[in-house]
Amino acid sequence: MNAIVQLEYDFTPVVDALAESGMGVFPQFIAAPLIRALRHDVEKLPQHALTPAAIGRAHQLQTDDAIRSDKTRWLNGETPTQRYYQAIMMSLKQQLNRSLFLGLKEYECHYALYEAGDFYKTHLDAFRGRSNRRVTTVLYLNEDWQAHHGGELVIYPETRQGKIHRVLPNAGTLVCFLSDVFPHEVLPATRDRLSVSGWFRIDDPAVPAIIL
Ligand code: OGA
Ligand code: MN
Repeated sequence: MNAIVQLEYDFTPVVDALAESGMGVFPQFIAAPLIRALRHDVEKLPQHALTPAAIGRAHQLQTDDAIRSDKTRWLNGETPTQRYYQAIMMSLKQQLNRSLFLGLKEYECHYALYEAGDFYKTHLDAFRGRSNRRVTTVLYLNEDWQAHHGGELVIYPETRQGKIHRVLPNAGTLVCFLSDVFPHEVLPATRDRLSVSGWFRIDDPAVPAIIL
């Protein structure tokens, strides 16, 4: 694990971007050795470990391949690589809480595999007042991703005036945004597309549990 240890990440750009515009895209944010370790971590999973992603809330959990067709696997800290990534995200949480007083508590994240042609139609990760998810993170694990491979994450502005962001899922790129503000979608690609999607939660008991 020593090779992938980078003790301190400077999350100032992420904190500033969230404060200023509620979102940010950070190419080459996570160094190549950790990206490789995460990719190997997924590749070592048995094939059935990645299962069709679910949408919906408690009691209505369903898979709906009209909305999304990727396969996911929650990170549970079962390998040093997973624990290391989770530790980095804990450090991001601390900085967000210290600087922006977001009161973030838990972090949950899953690997997502989009095979060629897979997609996730436009959605919000959280609905205001109805979810504990506050901040979304997406980290991409794909080496040598070219524009012609497709698979962009498209992030739409909260209002019609704002800028539309198109993000290629390049290895090391980290995306962060407020979960209940930005509609976004994943366009189909011509090759496999791997990412780690995660959410910082506030765990307010007044808000019903969400399990997607
Ligand atoms: C999600 C999501 C975006 C991506 O998992 O909710 O929107 O680019 N992922 O993988
Ligand atoms: Mn999403």
